[in-house]
Amino acid sequence: MKILLALVLAVAGLLVPSSAAAQSKHTVTYDKYSLTVDGERVLLQAAEFHYFRLPSPDLWRDILEKEKAAGFNGISVYFSWAFHSPAPGQYDFTGVRDVDRLLRIAEEVGLYVIARPGPYINAETTGGGFPAWLKTVPGRARSSAPGYTAAYHDWLAHINPIIAKHQVTRGGSVLLYNVENEYAVNTDAVYMQDLQDTARADGIDVPITTNNCCDAGSWSSTWGSGLGAVQIPGVDDYPQSFDCGNAATVWGPWGAGVTEKVREDAPVFAAEYQAGAIDLNNAGYAACRELTGVQYTKYFQKGNMILSGATAFNYYMGFGGTNWGWLAQPNDVYTSYDYGAAISEDRQLTDKYFEYKRQGYFLQSVPQLTKTDAVAAPAAPGLETAARSNPDTGTSFVLVRNTGTTPVTSTIDLGGYALPLRLDGHDAKILVTGLDDLAASSSELLTRATIAGRDIKVLYGTAGTPGTTVLNYLSKPVVRVLDGQVSATYSGGKLRLDYTHEGLARVQVTGGGQRPQLLLLGTDDTAAAFWRYDTASGPVLVRGTDLLRSAALIHGTAALRADSNAAGPVEVFSPARAITVNGKPVAARTSPSGSLIGSVPGPRAVTLPALSGWKQQAEAPEARPAFDDSRWTVADKTTSLSPFPPLTQPVLFSDEYGFHTGSVWYRGHFTATGAETTADLNAITGKRGNYLVWLNGRYLGAAAGGVEDETGSPGAGSFTVPAGLLKAGQPAVLSVLVQNMGHNDDWTADDNRFRQPRGLIGARVGDAAIAWKIQGTAWLDPARGGLNNGGLYGERAGWSLPGFADRSWPAASKSVPAGVTWLRDDFRVDLPAGQDTSVALRFDGAIPAGYRAILYLNGWNVGQYGAAIGPQTDFVLPAGVLHQNGTNTLAVAVIAEQPSTVATPHLVVAGSQRGGVPVRDVPAPDRRNHALG
Ligand code: GAL
Repeated sequence: MKILLALVLAVAGLLVPSSAAAQSKHTVTYDKYSLTVDGERVLLQAAEFHYFRLPSPDLWRDILEKEKAAGFNGISVYFSWAFHSPAPGQYDFTGVRDVDRLLRIAEEVGLYVIARPGPYINAETTGGGFPAWLKTVPGRARSSAPGYTAAYHDWLAHINPIIAKHQVTRGGSVLLYNVENEYAVNTDAVYMQDLQDTARADGIDVPITTNNCCDAGSWSSTWGSGLGAVQIPGVDDYPQSFDCGNAATVWGPWGAGVTEKVREDAPVFAAEYQAGAIDLNNAGYAACRELTGVQYTKYFQKGNMILSGATAFNYYMGFGGTNWGWLAQPNDVYTSYDYGAAISEDRQLTDKYFEYKRQGYFLQSVPQLTKTDAVAAPAAPGLETAARSNPDTGTSFVLVRNTGTTPVTSTIDLGGYALPLRLDGHDAKILVTGLDDLAASSSELLTRATIAGRDIKVLYGTAGTPGTTVLNYLSKPVVRVLDGQVSATYSGGKLRLDYTHEGLARVQVTGGGQRPQLLLLGTDDTAAAFWRYDTASGPVLVRGTDLLRSAALIHGTAALRADSNAAGPVEVFSPARAITVNGKPVAARTSPSGSLIGSVPGPRAVTLPALSGWKQQAEAPEARPAFDDSRWTVADKTTSLSPFPPLTQPVLFSDEYGFHTGSVWYRGHFTATGAETTADLNAITGKRGNYLVWLNGRYLGAAAGGVEDETGSPGAGSFTVPAGLLKAGQPAVLSVLVQNMGHNDDWTADDNRFRQPRGLIGARVGDAAIAWKIQGTAWLDPARGGLNNGGLYGERAGWSLPGFADRSWPAASKSVPAGVTWLRDDFRVDLPAGQDTSVALRFDGAIPAGYRAILYLNGWNVGQYGAAIGPQTDFVLPAGVLHQNGTNTLAVAVIAEQPSTVATPHLVVAGSQRGGVPVRDVPAPDRRNHALG
């Protein structure tokens, strides 16, 4: 019955075979070479993934399957305290915050997890992961101060049990536990030790690591007093910098990218190895992807593998995602956190993905690399070489790099043969000798497997370059070239194949005293077209389709779950006699290579609706003198814990009054003298923010908010009071709308950046004593969480939500006054089933400087648009947040500094593949389900 069920599910394409033996307990340990699981050495190849940057949990599986398909066997995950805790003592692990589910998916997909719960995570996310309420807790953050300690103990008491339950030692996937993050200045060893003691007390029993940035030796047993030392110190390396604007010329300005060995008794761990970049200078993420492109990925990563001997890697980022809501730390990033990663923000596989795949498949097919020592390398004139060798098997790994920018033709002596080589500028290869029957090769190994009694090796090299492969054979074998041009010679127990890397050559070798063998000799591209999946009954190799998510061998059928961008071939090497793709049988013939060849259909055409039904409504009643603010919070504090002094009294820092996110309104009441000439206001918003000012209902103008700066640079706006607006002895109201763009990080662990206030920090209108009221986010959205909404009137009243009754709103003129105006449009989407269509919202034309727009899809804040914010014009609408077959509501809050004509966006297809994972709609509760404040 069970088998039958499995067959039905597999044929239907629904069964997700798990490589992790679920529920069985394992032993995790390590030595100076590598981690081991149940005594077996593991080469950990992880990709960084932030669940909090992808608010559609079904898509977590999509990304994890894509990472797995690239040969990664792990992910590294920051857990953001701020994302889970909107207020002291309040924690939420449901819905898009359900990390238990994330860890279950990792188990099902078969990926190890490096768990990084901070408490401090940096990550260019608001507060560096610290909830903003921590600003009002006494005691220096990232120290052993009692206030901070009590706060992070509460966080760890919530997150640690979830992580603990998913450890490899309990049958789960968590292999390493990372405390803190680049904790290098203002350190407190007592705190560092307590993080570990707390983890142990909470049941964490996998090795503990930390990621060092600056002094690689930090937190090793021989560093400082030894207190706070971790078992496996990791090192972060960003050799290529974040200078995306100069991608074409930058080459390794931040070092050689060779991970240091920190502890003699622990493996070398590249805890964060640069795999993309933050867009510090607004060059756009395409430029960041170029900065860290295929050539960088080959040169630095392969170099590091051999020069450092690292056996645990984490590439930052594997998939960057989106700073939706107010997730961004605004000094470094805007809405997109695409990062130029191998998988783009819209979940497409980029060129770089396929380089990761070439490297990942290689690493997984050479367990010999988990135990190597540096050895003398053979020379290759004109090229850099370095080598490592496995002392038990004699397998050697030789790095060959072209440090120059022009091609170099050379030879290298491998296994007693002078092999011709040609490397493009900045190209790098890892060549192997003594790997079972593979004596030597100037081609790189993609993967090798024994399938249906036959050995298969896929080898590759840059198109047009020479390749030689030498194999051990006891006696002269029979060589049949099935495809391509390959010459074969046999002497002295060695079969030598010479060829040029071109297309895909196929060589069948039989006899010779060993198993039959198929050699597939390809180029970078043709090799990257192979997918490998290790099923419970052995490996399956697939050529074609655009992504193999999983494979299962069930009663003679290879059941594949695969994505296709276009119609094309699928070739399967397996013992199976039939193929199904996504549950559908594929007509297949047997090829001369002994594989099954069929074809898969491409995606169906996608039609997206025009967004043409916009309605519009202006708001900002708070600006009117008669607005009733009686229920607003009185802002009357005189002190704060911020090292930043208020410029005037009372303290107006919004965090002091529990308003931590997005827009905040202030109303200041005073009695005018009539002699006032200016209103002088200072606000700190974080970079990209602004504030707008009204006096007695009259708009006075806007100013840029102050930014991160330890010395303090409060945004200063001096606004002229129009003559006659204020009358002696009459009540007056100053209304100020301040953007809080997110909270600074605490990279320096000194509170100065992190505790920098948000909101007004000074306000003067003549000498008037001003009585202040403040209002921010008015309700905690149970689905979207505490970082989704600010305190605009429309946000408080549900204008951002689906179901809001906008019937009475007029059709949009798109011309807006200074202040706040909303545009709304409902539209229906009907995307093809069984297909993964990634949709984005695109703005055409120049990015406006006169206004900013906050974009809500079904109430989910999917981003911010405007020249002050960043260069972004496309905003990803994650499937699930976008109802793929149903009605959707877009709401756009326009905050205009001056009267403007607003551009509205249109929908675009960012990518569409047949296949994908099933994606359910993410809950998008409407206003009827909320008690609104
Ligand atoms: C590292 C840090 C990460 C992230 C990265 C840059 O130094 O550990 O959290 O900030 O830099 O993207």
